[in-house]
Amino acid sequence: MSEISRRDFLKLLQGAGALLGVSVVATPVVAYFYPPKLEEVPSEPVLVCAESELPVGESKTIKFGRYPAIVIQTTNGLKAYSAVCTHFACIVKWNNASGEIDCPCHEGYFSPDDGSVLHGPPPAPLTPLIAEVVGGQIYVKVGGES
Ligand code: FES
Repeated sequence: MSEISRRDFLKLLQGAGALLGVSVVATPVVAYFYPPKLEEVPSEPVLVCAESELPVGESKTIKFGRYPAIVIQTTNGLKAYSAVCTHFACIVKWNNASGEIDCPCHEGYFSPDDGSVLHGPPPAPLTPLIAEVVGGQIYVKVGGES
């Protein structure tokens, strides 16, 4: 078995570095054009909490299958969305002071009324879910506009 020369080793190292550089640049570009999708969601409604535990202006983040969902009691009623940002899949949070759903990663902001992008880099609205009250309990299920 032949030994690898110092020059060949450096070329190999250079090639690995170039490959790493390409992947660092390509990954965000690909992710931008193919935003994360809500998959493996529960087929049954998921219990959030008692309606009395979610006053106007408050939100809860729950586990919804593999992903978190955010439920907000807005002045326009209950709203629910996937809490996964459509930019690079960070978890969004309700900001009661601004009245917007914030993504802290790259300053993306979404409307609580329809999940649309208000400003920032997210390429698509948040995935809407259906929030409903049954017997005084708030449930979230798949549905809504996409
Ligand atoms: S991941 Fe949400 S704005 Fe970038």
